[in-house]
Amino acid sequence: MHQLKALLWCCAVLLCVGEAIGSRAFADESPIYSSMATAQPVWAEHGMVSSQEALASQVGVEILKRGGNAVDAAVAVGFSLAVTLPRAGNLGGGGFMLVYLAKENKSIAIDYREMAPSSAHKDIFIDEAGKVNPKLSLAHGLAVGVPGTVMGMELALKKYGTMKLSQVIQPAIQQAKKGIKVTSSLANSLSHPFIKERMLEVPASKAVFYKQDGANYQPNEWLVQGDLARSLELIAKHGSKGFYEGETAEKIVAAVTAAGGIMTLEDMQNYKAVERQPVSGTYRGYEVISMPPPSSGGVHIIEMLNMLELYPVGELGHNSAANIHLLAEVMKRAYADRSEYLGDPDFVDVPLKALTDKNYAKHLSKQIHADKATPSAQIKPGKLLPYESDQTTHYSVVDKWGNAVSNTYTLNFSYGSGIVAAGTGILLNNEMDDFSAMPGVPNGFGLVGGDANAVQGNKRPLSSMTPTIVMKNGKPFIVTGSPGGSRIITTTLQVISNVIDHGLNIAEATAAPRIHHQWLPDEIRIEKSLNVDTRRLLEAKGHQLSEKSAMGSTQTIMVTDKGLFGASDPRRADSAALGY
Ligand code: DON
Repeated sequence: MHQLKALLWCCAVLLCVGEAIGSRAFADESPIYSSMATAQPVWAEHGMVSSQEALASQVGVEILKRGGNAVDAAVAVGFSLAVTLPRAGNLGGGGFMLVYLAKENKSIAIDYREMAPSSAHKDIFIDEAGKVNPKLSLAHGLAVGVPGTVMGMELALKKYGTMKLSQVIQPAIQQAKKGIKVTSSLANSLSHPFIKERMLEVPASKAVFYKQDGANYQPNEWLVQGDLARSLELIAKHGSKGFYEGETAEKIVAAVTAAGGIMTLEDMQNYKAVERQPVSGTYRGYEVISMPPPSSGGVHIIEMLNMLELYPVGELGHNSAANIHLLAEVMKRAYADRSEYLGDPDFVDVPLKALTDKNYAKHLSKQIHADKATPSAQIKPGKLLPYESDQTTHYSVVDKWGNAVSNTYTLNFSYGSGIVAAGTGILLNNEMDDFSAMPGVPNGFGLVGGDANAVQGNKRPLSSMTPTIVMKNGKPFIVTGSPGGSRIITTTLQVISNVIDHGLNIAEATAAPRIHHQWLPDEIRIEKSLNVDTRRLLEAKGHQLSEKSAMGSTQTIMVTDKGLFGASDPRRADSAALGY
Protein backbone atom coordinates (compact mmCIF):
# COMPACT_ATOMS: atom_id res chain seq x y z
CA MET A 1 0.00 0.00 0.00
CA HIS A 2 2.74 2.32 1.09
CA GLN A 3 4.70 1.63 -2.06
CA LEU A 4 1.65 2.06 -4.22
CA LYS A 5 1.06 5.51 -2.78
CA ALA A 6 4.66 6.43 -3.34
CA LEU A 7 4.32 5.32 -6.91
CA LEU A 8 1.19 7.40 -7.36
CA TRP A 9 2.93 10.46 -5.97
CA CYS A 10 5.88 9.91 -8.27
CA CYS A 11 3.57 9.61 -11.26
CA ALA A 12 1.76 12.73 -10.12
CA VAL A 13 5.08 14.50 -9.79
CA LEU A 14 6.20 13.45 -13.23
CA LEU A 15 2.93 14.58 -14.72
CA CYS A 16 3.14 17.84 -12.86
CA VAL A 17 6.70 18.70 -13.67
CA GLY A 18 5.99 19.94 -17.13
CA GLU A 19 2.82 21.63 -16.10
CA ALA A 20 4.29 23.29 -13.04
CA ILE A 21 7.35 24.59 -14.79
CA GLY A 22 5.29 25.82 -17.69
CA SER A 23 2.45 26.93 -15.46
CA ARG A 24 1.64 30.58 -15.15
CA ALA A 25 3.34 32.08 -12.17
CA PHE A 26 0.92 34.41 -10.42
CA ALA A 27 3.48 37.11 -9.89
CA ASP A 28 3.41 37.94 -13.59
CA GLU A 29 0.28 39.85 -12.78
CA SER A 30 2.08 41.96 -10.16
CA PRO A 31 -0.65 41.57 -7.57
CA ILE A 32 -1.02 44.91 -5.85
CA TYR A 33 -4.14 46.68 -4.71
CA SER A 34 -7.31 44.75 -5.31
CA SER A 35 -10.63 44.37 -3.58
CA MET A 36 -9.73 40.70 -3.03
CA ALA A 37 -6.66 41.52 -0.97
CA THR A 38 -6.83 41.14 2.79
CA ALA A 39 -3.76 43.29 3.47
CA GLN A 40 -2.34 46.20 1.50
CA PRO A 41 1.29 47.16 0.98
CA VAL A 42 2.76 50.64 1.31
CA TRP A 43 3.36 52.43 -2.00
CA ALA A 44 6.09 54.87 -3.02
CA GLU A 45 7.23 56.20 -6.35
CA HIS A 46 10.97 56.77 -6.04
CA GLY A 47 12.65 55.00 -3.18
CA MET A 48 11.79 52.89 -0.16
CA VAL A 49 13.24 51.47 3.04
CA SER A 50 11.62 48.68 5.00
CA SER A 51 13.11 48.02 8.40
CA GLN A 52 12.16 46.79 11.82
CA GLU A 53 12.30 50.28 13.36
CA ALA A 54 10.40 53.22 11.89
CA LEU A 55 13.02 55.72 13.11
CA ALA A 56 15.70 53.90 11.13
CA SER A 57 13.49 53.61 8.04
CA GLN A 58 13.03 57.39 8.20
CA VAL A 59 16.79 57.90 8.34
CA GLY A 60 17.17 55.80 5.19
CA VAL A 61 14.42 57.65 3.31
CA GLU A 62 16.01 61.01 4.19
CA ILE A 63 19.32 59.84 2.72
CA LEU A 64 17.52 58.72 -0.45
CA LYS A 65 15.73 62.07 -0.70
CA ARG A 66 19.06 63.87 -0.40
CA GLY A 67 20.28 62.02 -3.46
CA GLY A 68 22.02 59.10 -1.77
CA ASN A 69 21.84 55.71 -3.40
CA ALA A 70 20.53 52.47 -1.86
CA VAL A 71 23.94 51.66 -0.35
CA ASP A 72 24.26 55.09 1.28
CA ALA A 73 20.81 54.63 2.77
CA ALA A 74 21.51 51.02 3.82
CA VAL A 75 24.65 52.02 5.71
CA ALA A 76 22.82 54.89 7.42
CA VAL A 77 20.03 52.49 8.41
CA GLY A 78 22.58 49.95 9.69
CA PHE A 79 24.12 52.51 12.05
CA SER A 80 20.73 53.91 13.05
CA LEU A 81 19.38 50.49 14.00
CA ALA A 82 22.38 50.05 16.31
CA VAL A 83 20.85 52.90 18.31
CA THR A 84 17.13 52.48 17.76
CA LEU A 85 16.80 48.68 17.83
CA PRO A 86 19.46 47.67 20.36
CA ARG A 87 18.26 44.08 20.61
CA ALA A 88 19.44 43.33 17.08
CA GLY A 89 20.81 46.40 15.31
CA ASN A 90 24.46 46.59 16.19
CA LEU A 91 28.06 47.65 15.99
CA GLY A 92 29.18 44.64 18.03
CA GLY A 93 27.76 41.94 15.75
CA GLY A 94 27.92 41.01 12.10
CA GLY A 95 25.90 40.12 9.04
CA PHE A 96 25.49 40.01 5.30
CA MET A 97 24.65 42.62 2.70
CA LEU A 98 23.46 41.77 -0.78
CA VAL A 99 23.80 44.67 -3.19
CA TYR A 100 22.33 44.94 -6.69
CA LEU A 101 23.77 47.66 -8.89
CA ALA A 102 21.40 48.61 -11.69
CA LYS A 103 23.89 50.36 -13.95
CA GLU A 104 26.35 47.50 -13.95
CA ASN A 105 23.59 44.86 -13.70
CA LYS A 106 25.69 43.18 -11.07
CA SER A 107 25.10 41.76 -7.62
CA ILE A 108 27.62 41.50 -4.82
CA ALA A 109 27.46 39.70 -1.47
CA ILE A 110 29.32 41.39 1.35
CA ASP A 111 30.22 39.02 4.16
CA TYR A 112 30.80 40.84 7.42
CA ARG A 113 30.07 37.85 9.61
CA GLU A 114 31.91 37.66 12.93
CA MET A 115 35.06 35.55 13.09
CA ALA A 116 36.18 33.27 15.89
CA PRO A 117 39.12 34.69 17.86
CA SER A 118 42.38 33.25 16.51
CA SER A 119 42.98 31.01 19.51
CA ALA A 120 39.50 29.45 19.45
CA HIS A 121 39.39 25.69 18.94
CA LYS A 122 36.87 22.93 18.51
CA ASP A 123 36.46 21.96 22.17
CA ILE A 124 36.07 25.49 23.44
CA PHE A 125 32.50 24.99 24.69
CA ILE A 126 33.02 21.58 26.26
CA ASP A 127 33.38 21.37 30.03
CA GLU A 128 35.53 19.02 32.15
CA ALA A 129 32.80 16.39 32.13
CA GLY A 130 33.00 16.28 28.34
CA LYS A 131 29.61 17.97 27.94
CA VAL A 132 28.68 21.07 25.97
CA ASN A 133 28.06 24.00 28.31
CA PRO A 134 25.63 26.32 26.49
CA LYS A 135 26.28 29.21 28.86
CA LEU A 136 29.81 29.49 27.43
CA SER A 137 28.58 30.06 23.89
CA LEU A 138 25.67 32.29 24.85
CA ALA A 139 26.43 34.48 27.86
CA HIS A 140 30.17 34.50 28.45
CA GLY A 141 33.25 36.17 26.99
CA LEU A 142 33.78 33.05 24.86
CA ALA A 143 30.42 33.65 23.19
CA VAL A 144 31.68 36.78 21.46
CA GLY A 145 32.94 36.59 17.89
CA VAL A 146 35.11 39.38 16.45
CA PRO A 147 32.50 41.91 15.28
CA GLY A 148 32.15 42.58 11.56
CA THR A 149 29.44 45.22 11.19
CA VAL A 150 31.59 48.36 11.15
CA MET A 151 34.00 46.91 8.59
CA GLY A 152 31.13 45.65 6.45
CA MET A 153 29.35 49.00 6.43
CA GLU A 154 32.57 50.81 5.58
CA LEU A 155 33.40 48.43 2.75
CA ALA A 156 29.90 48.73 1.26
CA LEU A 157 29.96 52.50 1.40
CA LYS A 158 33.48 52.94 0.05
CA LYS A 159 32.95 50.66 -2.91
CA TYR A 160 29.31 51.13 -3.79
CA GLY A 161 28.05 54.24 -1.99
CA THR A 162 28.33 57.89 -2.99
CA MET A 163 28.39 59.62 0.38
CA LYS A 164 30.95 59.85 3.16
CA LEU A 165 30.85 57.68 6.25
CA SER A 166 30.85 60.83 8.40
CA GLN A 167 27.65 61.92 6.59
CA VAL A 168 25.63 58.72 6.72
CA ILE A 169 26.53 58.02 10.34
CA GLN A 170 25.31 61.46 11.51
CA PRO A 171 21.65 60.56 12.07
CA ALA A 172 22.69 57.64 14.30
CA ILE A 173 24.96 59.92 16.33
CA GLN A 174 22.08 62.34 16.83
CA GLN A 175 19.69 59.56 17.83
CA ALA A 176 22.18 58.26 20.39
CA LYS A 177 22.95 61.72 21.78
CA LYS A 178 19.48 63.17 21.93
CA GLY A 179 17.92 59.87 22.85
CA ILE A 180 15.09 57.85 21.43
CA LYS A 181 11.62 57.68 22.87
CA VAL A 182 11.24 54.23 24.40
CA THR A 183 8.46 52.34 22.64
CA SER A 184 6.25 49.83 24.34
CA SER A 185 8.02 47.06 22.43
CA LEU A 186 11.51 48.21 23.51
CA ALA A 187 10.38 48.55 27.13
CA ASN A 188 8.84 45.11 26.92
CA SER A 189 11.94 43.43 25.51
CA LEU A 190 14.21 45.00 28.13
CA SER A 191 11.93 43.91 30.95
CA HIS A 192 11.96 40.28 29.84
CA PRO A 193 13.23 38.44 32.96
CA PHE A 194 15.83 36.44 31.02
CA ILE A 195 17.29 39.54 29.34
CA LYS A 196 17.10 41.70 32.42
CA GLU A 197 18.75 39.19 34.71
CA ARG A 198 21.65 38.80 32.30
CA MET A 199 22.16 42.50 31.68
CA LEU A 200 21.93 43.48 35.35
CA GLU A 201 24.89 41.18 36.01
CA VAL A 202 27.08 43.39 33.80
CA PRO A 203 27.38 46.91 35.28
CA ALA A 204 28.05 48.54 31.88
CA SER A 205 24.94 46.90 30.39
CA LYS A 206 22.84 47.92 33.37
CA ALA A 207 24.08 51.50 33.07
CA VAL A 208 22.90 51.76 29.46
CA PHE A 209 19.60 49.92 29.51
CA TYR A 210 18.21 50.33 33.04
CA LYS A 211 17.85 53.13 35.55
CA GLN A 212 20.34 53.50 38.36
CA ASP A 213 18.19 51.48 40.75
CA GLY A 214 17.73 48.77 38.13
CA ALA A 215 14.20 49.89 37.26
CA ASN A 216 12.97 49.55 33.68
CA TYR A 217 12.53 52.41 31.26
CA GLN A 218 8.84 53.04 30.66
CA PRO A 219 7.24 53.70 27.27
CA ASN A 220 7.64 57.33 26.19
CA GLU A 221 10.66 57.93 28.45
CA TRP A 222 13.91 58.84 26.67
CA LEU A 223 16.82 56.45 26.26
CA VAL A 224 20.01 58.45 25.77
CA GLN A 225 23.14 56.47 24.77
CA GLY A 226 26.04 58.87 25.32
CA ASP A 227 28.85 56.31 25.17
CA LEU A 228 27.44 54.84 21.98
CA ALA A 229 27.29 58.35 20.46
CA ARG A 230 30.98 58.74 21.23
CA SER A 231 31.83 55.35 19.72
CA LEU A 232 29.94 56.36 16.58
CA GLU A 233 31.78 59.68 16.49
CA LEU A 234 35.10 57.85 16.60
CA ILE A 235 33.97 55.82 13.57
CA ALA A 236 32.81 59.02 11.82
CA LYS A 237 36.26 60.50 12.39
CA HIS A 238 38.60 57.56 11.83
CA GLY A 239 36.53 55.13 9.80
CA SER A 240 36.71 51.47 10.80
CA LYS A 241 40.03 52.17 12.54
CA GLY A 242 37.98 54.11 15.07
CA PHE A 243 36.45 50.77 16.04
CA TYR A 244 39.03 48.07 15.37
CA GLU A 245 41.93 50.06 16.81
CA GLY A 246 42.39 52.52 19.63
CA GLU A 247 40.18 53.06 22.62
CA THR A 248 37.04 51.30 21.36
CA ALA A 249 38.96 48.14 20.44
CA GLU A 250 40.78 48.21 23.76
CA LYS A 251 37.54 48.54 25.69
CA ILE A 252 35.90 45.72 23.75
CA VAL A 253 38.85 43.39 24.36
CA ALA A 254 38.89 44.35 28.05
CA ALA A 255 35.18 43.56 28.39
CA VAL A 256 35.52 40.22 26.62
CA THR A 257 38.56 39.28 28.69
CA ALA A 258 36.84 40.23 31.95
CA ALA A 259 33.96 37.96 30.92
CA GLY A 260 36.33 35.01 30.42
CA GLY A 261 36.87 35.36 26.66
CA ILE A 262 39.97 35.03 24.50
CA MET A 263 39.63 37.81 21.94
CA THR A 264 42.73 39.94 21.49
CA LEU A 265 43.53 43.34 20.02
CA GLU A 266 45.20 41.55 17.09
CA ASP A 267 41.96 39.70 16.44
CA MET A 268 40.19 43.05 16.22
CA GLN A 269 42.84 44.53 13.94
CA ASN A 270 42.89 41.48 11.69
CA TYR A 271 39.15 41.37 11.08
CA LYS A 272 38.23 41.44 7.39
CA ALA A 273 34.91 41.87 5.63
CA VAL A 274 34.93 40.07 2.28
CA GLU A 275 33.04 40.22 -0.97
CA ARG A 276 31.68 36.93 -2.24
CA GLN A 277 29.89 35.74 -5.32
CA PRO A 278 26.17 35.48 -4.50
CA VAL A 279 24.49 32.11 -5.04
CA SER A 280 21.81 32.09 -7.66
CA GLY A 281 19.14 29.80 -8.99
CA THR A 282 15.86 29.99 -10.85
CA TYR A 283 12.27 29.43 -9.78
CA ARG A 284 9.54 29.24 -12.39
CA GLY A 285 11.36 31.69 -14.61
CA TYR A 286 12.48 34.09 -11.88
CA GLU A 287 16.11 34.40 -10.90
CA VAL A 288 16.83 34.09 -7.18
CA ILE A 289 20.00 35.74 -5.88
CA SER A 290 21.01 35.14 -2.29
CA MET A 291 23.77 34.86 0.30
CA PRO A 292 26.47 32.21 -0.20
CA PRO A 293 28.34 30.43 2.63
CA PRO A 294 29.16 31.11 5.42
CA SER A 295 25.42 31.55 5.23
CA SER A 296 23.44 28.42 4.59
CA GLY A 297 20.49 30.59 3.64
CA GLY A 298 21.07 31.07 -0.07
CA VAL A 299 22.10 27.49 -0.79
CA HIS A 300 19.09 25.99 0.95
CA ILE A 301 16.53 28.45 -0.32
CA ILE A 302 17.59 27.48 -3.83
CA GLU A 303 17.70 23.77 -2.95
CA MET A 304 14.15 24.00 -1.56
CA LEU A 305 12.81 26.09 -4.46
CA ASN A 306 14.30 23.54 -6.87
CA MET A 307 12.27 20.83 -5.14
CA LEU A 308 9.08 22.93 -4.97
CA GLU A 309 9.36 23.73 -8.67
CA LEU A 310 8.64 20.06 -9.37
CA TYR A 311 5.14 20.37 -7.92
CA PRO A 312 2.06 22.43 -8.81
CA VAL A 313 2.35 24.37 -5.57
CA GLY A 314 -0.22 27.00 -6.52
CA GLU A 315 -2.80 24.35 -7.24
CA LEU A 316 -2.24 22.68 -3.89
CA GLY A 317 -3.71 25.82 -2.30
CA HIS A 318 -2.09 28.32 -0.01
CA ASN A 319 -1.44 26.82 3.43
CA SER A 320 -3.54 23.77 2.63
CA ALA A 321 -2.46 20.59 4.41
CA ALA A 322 -1.09 19.27 1.10
CA ASN A 323 0.98 22.42 0.60
CA ILE A 324 2.31 22.47 4.17
CA HIS A 325 3.10 18.76 3.96
CA LEU A 326 5.14 19.36 0.83
CA LEU A 327 6.90 22.37 2.36
CA ALA A 328 7.79 20.39 5.49
CA GLU A 329 9.14 17.45 3.48
CA VAL A 330 11.24 19.77 1.36
CA MET A 331 12.52 21.68 4.41
CA LYS A 332 13.55 18.50 6.27
CA ARG A 333 15.73 17.38 3.43
CA ALA A 334 17.45 20.74 3.04
CA TYR A 335 18.16 21.06 6.76
CA ALA A 336 19.57 17.52 6.89
CA ASP A 337 22.05 18.62 4.21
CA ARG A 338 22.79 21.79 6.13
CA SER A 339 23.92 19.76 9.13
CA GLU A 340 26.48 17.90 7.06
CA TYR A 341 27.82 20.06 4.28
CA LEU A 342 27.70 23.71 5.29
CA GLY A 343 30.41 25.76 6.94
CA ASP A 344 32.80 28.64 6.33
CA PRO A 345 33.99 28.29 2.70
CA ASP A 346 37.40 29.65 3.71
CA PHE A 347 37.83 26.46 5.78
CA VAL A 348 35.67 23.76 4.23
CA ASP A 349 34.73 22.82 0.72
CA VAL A 350 31.01 23.45 0.46
CA PRO A 351 29.47 21.47 -2.43
CA LEU A 352 27.50 24.50 -3.50
CA LYS A 353 26.83 23.54 -7.09
CA ALA A 354 25.79 20.01 -6.21
CA LEU A 355 23.36 21.18 -3.52
CA THR A 356 21.72 23.73 -5.82
CA ASP A 357 21.61 21.44 -8.83
CA LYS A 358 18.10 20.85 -10.21
CA ASN A 359 18.86 17.17 -10.79
CA TYR A 360 19.73 16.75 -7.14
CA ALA A 361 16.34 18.27 -6.26
CA LYS A 362 14.66 15.72 -8.53
CA HIS A 363 16.57 12.93 -6.82
CA LEU A 364 15.51 14.18 -3.36
CA SER A 365 11.89 14.73 -4.38
CA LYS A 366 11.55 11.08 -5.35
CA GLN A 367 11.74 10.23 -1.64
CA ILE A 368 8.82 12.50 -0.77
CA HIS A 369 5.49 10.70 -0.25
CA ALA A 370 2.25 12.44 -1.16
CA ASP A 371 0.37 11.43 1.96
CA LYS A 372 2.87 10.43 4.54
CA ALA A 373 5.50 12.30 6.50
CA THR A 374 8.94 10.73 6.28
CA PRO A 375 10.27 10.53 9.86
CA SER A 376 13.41 12.64 10.18
CA ALA A 377 15.19 9.57 11.57
CA GLN A 378 14.90 8.06 8.08
CA ILE A 379 16.32 11.15 6.39
CA LYS A 380 20.07 11.50 6.25
CA PRO A 381 22.05 14.22 4.58
CA GLY A 382 21.59 13.47 0.87
CA LYS A 383 24.15 11.60 -1.18
CA LEU A 384 25.10 14.35 -3.53
CA LEU A 385 25.00 13.57 -7.19
CA PRO A 386 28.30 14.02 -8.93
CA TYR A 387 28.09 17.49 -10.40
CA GLU A 388 28.93 17.56 -14.04
CA SER A 389 31.60 19.98 -14.52
CA ASP A 390 29.24 21.71 -7.68
CA GLN A 391 17.64 38.48 17.37
CA THR A 392 18.77 39.55 14.03
CA THR A 393 17.14 42.14 11.91
CA HIS A 394 16.63 42.54 8.22
CA TYR A 395 16.09 45.64 6.10
CA SER A 396 15.61 46.26 2.41
CA VAL A 397 16.28 49.41 0.40
CA VAL A 398 15.50 50.34 -3.20
CA ASP A 399 16.46 53.68 -4.76
CA LYS A 400 15.18 55.66 -7.74
CA TRP A 401 17.88 54.23 -10.02
CA GLY A 402 16.80 50.65 -9.39
CA ASN A 403 19.69 49.77 -7.10
CA ALA A 404 18.73 47.45 -4.26
CA VAL A 405 20.18 46.39 -0.93
CA SER A 406 19.04 43.44 1.13
CA ASN A 407 20.78 43.37 4.50
CA THR A 408 20.49 41.05 7.49
CA TYR A 409 22.68 41.57 10.54
CA THR A 410 22.63 40.41 14.11
CA LEU A 411 23.97 40.03 17.62
CA ASN A 412 22.55 36.48 17.42
CA PHE A 413 20.13 36.26 20.34
CA SER A 414 18.23 39.28 21.61
CA TYR A 415 20.81 41.75 22.99
CA GLY A 416 23.53 39.23 22.08
CA SER A 417 25.72 38.14 24.99
CA GLY A 418 24.14 40.90 27.09
CA ILE A 419 27.63 42.32 27.57
CA VAL A 420 28.12 46.04 26.88
CA ALA A 421 31.80 46.93 26.65
CA ALA A 422 32.17 49.53 29.41
CA GLY A 423 32.64 53.07 28.11
CA THR A 424 31.53 52.24 24.54
CA GLY A 425 27.78 51.64 24.77
CA ILE A 426 28.39 48.73 22.40
CA LEU A 427 26.56 45.45 22.98
CA LEU A 428 28.58 42.39 22.04
CA ASN A 429 27.27 39.44 20.09
CA ASN A 430 26.98 35.79 21.12
CA GLU A 431 27.49 34.55 17.57
CA MET A 432 29.91 31.79 18.62
CA ASP A 433 26.81 29.74 19.48
CA ASP A 434 26.20 29.38 15.74
CA PHE A 435 29.14 26.99 15.58
CA SER A 436 28.50 23.34 16.25
CA ALA A 437 29.94 22.89 19.76
CA MET A 438 29.98 19.10 19.35
CA PRO A 439 28.70 16.92 16.50
CA GLY A 440 24.99 16.24 16.92
CA VAL A 441 24.51 18.55 19.94
CA PRO A 442 21.92 21.21 19.07
CA ASN A 443 22.77 24.90 19.40
CA GLY A 444 20.47 27.64 20.71
CA PHE A 445 18.26 27.29 17.63
CA GLY A 446 18.14 23.50 17.90
CA LEU A 447 20.39 23.15 14.86
CA VAL A 448 22.86 20.32 14.70
CA GLY A 449 26.09 20.22 12.75
CA GLY A 450 29.39 18.46 12.47
CA ASP A 451 32.97 19.02 11.43
CA ALA A 452 32.17 21.46 8.65
CA ASN A 453 30.89 23.91 11.27
CA ALA A 454 33.23 23.04 14.16
CA VAL A 455 34.91 25.93 16.01
CA GLN A 456 38.29 26.96 14.67
CA GLY A 457 40.40 30.10 15.05
CA ASN A 458 39.51 32.85 12.51
CA LYS A 459 36.60 30.81 11.16
CA ARG A 460 33.12 32.26 10.61
CA PRO A 461 30.21 30.40 12.22
CA LEU A 462 27.60 29.04 9.85
CA SER A 463 24.59 31.32 9.51
CA SER A 464 21.00 31.05 8.33
CA MET A 465 20.69 34.71 7.38
CA THR A 466 19.19 34.93 3.91
CA PRO A 467 19.17 38.39 2.36
CA THR A 468 17.61 37.70 -1.02
CA ILE A 469 16.69 39.46 -4.25
CA VAL A 470 14.29 37.78 -6.67
CA MET A 471 14.80 39.09 -10.20
CA LYS A 472 12.15 39.35 -12.89
CA ASN A 473 13.21 40.00 -16.46
CA GLY A 474 16.70 40.86 -15.25
CA LYS A 475 15.58 43.47 -12.69
CA PRO A 476 14.97 43.30 -8.94
CA PHE A 477 11.39 42.23 -8.23
CA ILE A 478 11.33 41.16 -4.57
CA VAL A 479 13.94 42.40 -2.11
CA THR A 480 13.51 40.50 1.13
CA GLY A 481 14.90 38.70 4.16
CA SER A 482 14.14 38.08 7.82
CA PRO A 483 15.47 37.42 11.30
CA GLY A 484 14.46 34.25 13.13
CA GLY A 485 17.53 32.06 13.53
CA SER A 486 17.03 28.69 11.91
CA ARG A 487 13.59 29.86 10.69
CA ILE A 488 15.03 32.60 8.49
CA ILE A 489 15.48 30.38 5.44
CA THR A 490 11.99 28.87 5.56
CA THR A 491 10.37 32.24 6.28
CA THR A 492 12.03 33.79 3.25
CA LEU A 493 11.07 30.76 1.16
CA GLN A 494 7.39 31.18 2.06
CA VAL A 495 7.34 34.87 1.18
CA ILE A 496 8.69 34.01 -2.27
CA SER A 497 6.31 31.10 -2.80
CA ASN A 498 3.35 33.11 -1.49
CA VAL A 499 3.89 35.67 -4.24
CA ILE A 500 4.97 33.45 -7.11
CA ASP A 501 2.83 30.37 -6.46
CA HIS A 502 -0.17 31.74 -4.63
CA GLY A 503 -0.64 35.18 -6.13
CA LEU A 504 -0.62 37.03 -2.81
CA ASN A 505 0.37 40.67 -2.78
CA ILE A 506 3.46 41.41 -0.73
CA ALA A 507 1.50 42.50 2.36
CA GLU A 508 -0.57 39.33 2.29
CA ALA A 509 2.50 37.20 1.55
CA THR A 510 4.10 38.74 4.64
CA ALA A 511 1.17 38.41 7.02
CA ALA A 512 0.20 34.85 6.02
CA PRO A 513 0.69 32.16 8.72
CA ARG A 514 4.11 30.51 8.54
CA ILE A 515 5.35 27.03 9.18
CA HIS A 516 8.84 25.62 9.68
CA HIS A 517 10.59 22.26 9.71
CA GLN A 518 14.32 21.91 10.30
CA TRP A 519 14.72 18.12 10.14
CA LEU A 520 15.60 17.89 13.83
CA PRO A 521 13.53 18.12 15.95
CA ASP A 522 11.08 16.15 13.81
CA GLU A 523 8.16 18.54 14.07
CA ILE A 524 6.43 21.19 12.02
CA ARG A 525 6.56 24.39 13.96
CA ILE A 526 3.37 26.37 13.36
CA GLU A 527 1.97 29.76 14.25
CA LYS A 528 -1.22 29.98 16.24
CA SER A 529 -3.27 31.20 13.27
CA LEU A 530 -3.01 27.89 11.42
CA ASN A 531 -6.53 26.50 11.44
CA VAL A 532 -7.53 23.40 13.33
CA ASP A 533 -8.78 21.48 10.29
CA THR A 534 -5.42 21.80 8.55
CA ARG A 535 -3.63 20.74 11.71
CA ARG A 536 -5.73 17.57 11.87
CA LEU A 537 -5.05 16.73 8.25
CA LEU A 538 -1.32 17.18 8.78
CA GLU A 539 -1.37 14.99 11.88
CA ALA A 540 -3.17 12.34 9.86
CA LYS A 541 -0.22 12.33 7.45
CA GLY A 542 2.05 11.58 10.39
CA HIS A 543 3.38 15.05 11.20
CA GLN A 544 4.02 16.17 14.71
CA LEU A 545 2.95 19.82 15.15
CA SER A 546 4.32 22.28 17.61
CA GLU A 547 2.71 25.70 18.11
CA LYS A 548 5.27 28.23 19.24
CA SER A 549 5.88 31.98 18.98
CA ALA A 550 5.46 33.81 15.66
CA MET A 551 8.27 33.35 13.15
CA GLY A 552 10.36 35.99 11.44
CA SER A 553 10.06 39.69 10.73
CA THR A 554 10.36 40.10 6.99
CA GLN A 555 11.05 43.53 5.53
CA THR A 556 10.24 43.41 1.86
CA ILE A 557 10.06 45.72 -1.13
CA MET A 558 8.43 44.66 -4.36
CA VAL A 559 9.51 46.58 -7.43
CA THR A 560 6.89 46.92 -10.18
CA ASP A 561 6.22 49.14 -13.14
CA LYS A 562 3.54 50.77 -10.99
CA GLY A 563 6.05 51.76 -8.32
CA LEU A 564 7.49 50.29 -5.15
CA PHE A 565 5.33 48.25 -2.80
CA GLY A 566 6.60 47.62 0.70
CA ALA A 567 5.55 45.35 3.51
CA SER A 568 6.98 45.41 6.96
CA ASP A 569 6.10 42.32 8.98
CA PRO A 570 3.11 42.88 11.29
CA ARG A 571 4.65 40.33 13.67
CA ARG A 572 6.88 42.98 15.22
CA ALA A 573 5.86 46.37 16.59
CA ASP A 574 7.54 49.63 15.52
CA SER A 575 8.65 48.41 12.11
CA ALA A 576 7.83 50.37 8.96
CA ALA A 577 8.14 50.40 5.20
CA LEU A 578 8.50 54.06 4.25
CA GLY A 579 9.14 55.71 0.93
CA TYR A 580 8.85 58.91 -1.04
O1 DON B 1 23.27 33.80 11.78
C1 DON B 1 22.33 33.17 12.21
O2 DON B 1 21.79 32.28 11.58
C2 DON B 1 21.77 33.50 13.57
N1 DON B 1 22.80 34.07 14.38
C3 DON B 1 20.60 34.41 13.43
C4 DON B 1 19.95 34.76 14.74
C5 DON B 1 18.59 35.31 14.61
O3 DON B 1 18.04 35.39 13.56
C6 DON B 1 17.91 35.72 15.86
N2 DON B 1 16.69 36.43 15.55
N3 DON B 1 15.60 36.29 15.77
